Amino acid sequence: MNAVTSPLAPGASHIEGTPAVQMRDICISFGGIRAVDDVTVDLYAGEVVALLGHNGAGKSTLIKILAGAYKPDAGEIRVNGDKADITNPRDAKRYGIETIYQTLALADNVDAAANLFLGRELMTPWGTLDDVAMEAATREVMGRLNPNFRKFKEPVRGLSGGQRQSVAIARAIHFNAKILIMDEPTAALGPQETAQVAELIKQLKAEGIAIFLISHDIHDVFDLADRVSVMKNGKLVGTARTSDVTKDEVLGMIILGKSPPGALAGPGAAAD
Ligand SMILES: Nc1ncnc2c1ncn2[C@@H]1O[C@H](COP(=O)(O)OP(=O)(O)O)[C@@H](O)[C@H]1O
Ligand SMILES: [Mg+2]
Repeated sequence: MNAVTSPLAPGASHIEGTPAVQMRDICISFGGIRAVDDVTVDLYAGEVVALLGHNGAGKSTLIKILAGAYKPDAGEIRVNGDKADITNPRDAKRYGIETIYQTLALADNVDAAANLFLGRELMTPWGTLDDVAMEAATREVMGRLNPNFRKFKEPVRGLSGGQRQSVAIARAIHFNAKILIMDEPTAALGPQETAQVAELIKQLKAEGIAIFLISHDIHDVFDLADRVSVMKNGKLVGTARTSDVTKDEVLGMIILGKSPPGALAGPGAAAD
């Protein structure tokens, strides 16, 4: 197993102190299959950690545990250093953990504001929908995330993939997400839209939000990520700062399940 010997990379000094999230020794099985097997990962405020691995590696299952969708068989989650009791998605939201799944879960036939407040609508003192307040709040948060966005009055069905993504992110941010999980956010997007989502992620990072970015494709996420954690067959292969490893080395982690010298190997990862 490799030790972490590298000093803090310039510009990465936020990776110190107490992580926003620690997932420690997490295990979960479905039937006979260990979908997640003794995985430990962490994530700091203002940091992007890319969770990488082939399809079936266990990435989505791991983050669904953080999102409260699955209960782990073993392991613990800490938020800002304190043990977090997350048994359902509502618990996760209470800890400021919001998840954006690939499907985005938008209501296509209504506009951005209606989507932002779906199920959490603002009301006037007279018990009617406060459309003015909801649109104002939507303009405020969208203005920060995606200043070029103009389609406030259109059903989101008519928006581009990148714009839809920004509406889903705006919803999370408006409700005080501190920890954002994005599962394959660019899987269905073209290059231009992917670039737009990359800009959104940089903006969120600048606001101090901690982001787990899940992807099966290193090329989509390497440049955005401060660190990568690689999974294979349910196990953590290792974690590395993107400043300490090359893309090829990370590809080696994904394909061969072995950690290069610049990475910290996970328990049970393939030995050299
Ligand atoms: N709800 C479930 N029931 C049974 N098996 C599951 C379930 N969810 C995931 N798995 C299995 O767990 C493994 C990891 O899946 P997943 O977390 O979706 O991987 P990834 O997101 O890395 O592609 C796979 O073998 C998958 O078939
Ligand atoms: Mg997945």
